[in-house]
Amino acid sequence: MEKDKVSIVDQRTSAAYEIPFFKGTIRAMDLRQMKTGPDDFGVMTYDPAFMNTAACQSAITFIDGDKGILRYRGYPIEQLAERCTFLEVAYLILHGELPTEEQLKAWVHLITHHTMIHETTKRFLEGFRHDAHPMGMFISTVAALSTVYPEARNVQNPEVRRHQIVRLLAKVPTIAAYTYRHSLGFPYVYPDNDLTYTENFMNMLWRMAEPKYRSNPALSRALDILFILHADHEQNCSANVMRAVGSSQADPYVCVAAAAAALSGPLHGGANEEVLKMLDEIGTKDRVPAHIKAVKEGHGKLMGFGHRIYKNYDPRARIIKWAADQVFQTTGRNPKLEIALELERIALEDEYFIKRKLYPNVDFYSGIIYQALGFKPEMFTVLFAIPRTVGWLAQWQEMIEDPEQKIARPRQIYTGYGERDFVPIEKRTGQTLTAGH
Ligand code: CMC
Repeated sequence: MEKDKVSIVDQRTSAAYEIPFFKGTIRAMDLRQMKTGPDDFGVMTYDPAFMNTAACQSAITFIDGDKGILRYRGYPIEQLAERCTFLEVAYLILHGELPTEEQLKAWVHLITHHTMIHETTKRFLEGFRHDAHPMGMFISTVAALSTVYPEARNVQNPEVRRHQIVRLLAKVPTIAAYTYRHSLGFPYVYPDNDLTYTENFMNMLWRMAEPKYRSNPALSRALDILFILHADHEQNCSANVMRAVGSSQADPYVCVAAAAAALSGPLHGGANEEVLKMLDEIGTKDRVPAHIKAVKEGHGKLMGFGHRIYKNYDPRARIIKWAADQVFQTTGRNPKLEIALELERIALEDEYFIKRKLYPNVDFYSGIIYQALGFKPEMFTVLFAIPRTVGWLAQWQEMIEDPEQKIARPRQIYTGYGERDFVPIEKRTGQTLTAGH
C-alpha cells in the first residue's frame, strides 16, 4: 500500500477510495467523488470556525502553538524584536527577505513620503462625533481612502498593488493619530519627514505648541517593538477576512477596512481594551481570586487569556512583559501591572486554566504598556491595527498571486424548510423562528 495516501471505505456503498496526502493534509475536493449515486452531490467537509482546515498555502508566518514559536519569514520573533526596526520587519514580511542597507533606506524614504492624507479625508474625519470610538473612525476612514485612489481597483496589476501597499502602510499611523486628536478636539498635526515611523506617529499624536517634537527614545523604541510583535500572525480572524474580501477583487482599502472591523471584536484585537476594563473592574490585587472564581463559574472570560493556536505561553506576551519593564523605567510602574501579574500567577496554577492550556496572549500586557505611554483604552485596538496592516497586505498579496485561489465561497449544510406554498398575509400566524424579529 502506498504510504502517501489514505484509504477510505464508504460504508454506505462499500466503495473504497484512495485519497492522496497533500503536504500533510487531504484536499476537501478529493472527497467529492464519494457518492451514493449519480444524483448525490458528493461528500463535503464540515468545519465551523475553521478548526481543522487550511484555507491557503502561505510562506509568511510560522507558528508552532504547542512550543510557543513565532517566526516571520523564518526569523524568530525574539531576534526581530531585538535587532530590527518596524519598517525593516515590514519590508521582510512584504518582500520575503530582510532588506540590504540600501533597500532599507529607499523603503523608509518611500513610506515616509506617503504619510500625508488628502485634505478631504481629514475633513471627512471631522464629521465624526467627538465621542466616536477611534476604531470606528479608523475603519471608516481607511475605507474612505478607496474613494481617493480609484485606480486601486486594478488589483491584478502588480505595480498598482505595490503603490497601494506603500500608501496604506504610510497612512494608517496618520489616520490613527487623527482619530485620537479628533476625540480630544485638538488640531491635527502633519507628518514630520525627519522622524522615524514610530517617532512620527508619536509626533502626530502628541505635538502641541513646540516647533519640533522629540520623543523619548526608550518609549519610541518600545512602541516600535510592539509594532513588530503585532505585524502578522498567519491565518487569524482578520487575515482570513482580508483574504476573503480580497478574493472578490475588491480594492485593498476596503479589504483593510474589513480586516480592521474583524480585528475590532473583543475576541480578537479588541481584547486589549477589554483587558484594561477587566483590570479596572477588579480594582485591587486582593479581588483577583474572586474574579478568577467568577470566570470559572461561567461569568465571562479572562480577557487576554487563551488562543486558538497557542497552547503554551504566547512568545509575544513574553517580549511585551520585557518591553513593559523598559517603559516603566521611564514612566513609572502602571499600578494595573500588580493586578495583571497576580491574575497570571493564580491562573497559571489553576486546574481550570491548566487543563484548557490557557496562557496570557499578546493582548494581556500590551494595554498596560499603552496606558503607561499615555493612551486611552479606546485607542488600543487602533494601535494593533497599524502594524497588522503589514500582515493583512502581505496575506492579500500572496492570495492574489496564488493561482490556486479563487473567490472564497464556503458551502453550507442547509437545515431550513423544504419547499412550501406561499402563505397570504391574512393567513400568517406571526410566529417566527428566531428571537427578536
Ligand atoms: N477565559 C476563560 N475560559 C476560556 C478563555 C478565557 N479567556 N478562553 C477559552 N476559555 C475556555 C472556553 O470556555 C472553553 O472551555 P470549555 O472547553 O469548558 O468549553 C475552552 O477554554 C476552549 O476555548 P474555546 O473558546 O473553544 O477556544 P477558541 O480557540 O475558540 O477561542 C479565543 C480562542 C482567543 C477566542 C478565546 O481563548 C478567548 O475568547 N479569549 C479571550 C479573548 C482574548 O484574549 N482574545 C485575544 C486573542 S490573541 C490576539 C488576537 O487574536 O487578537
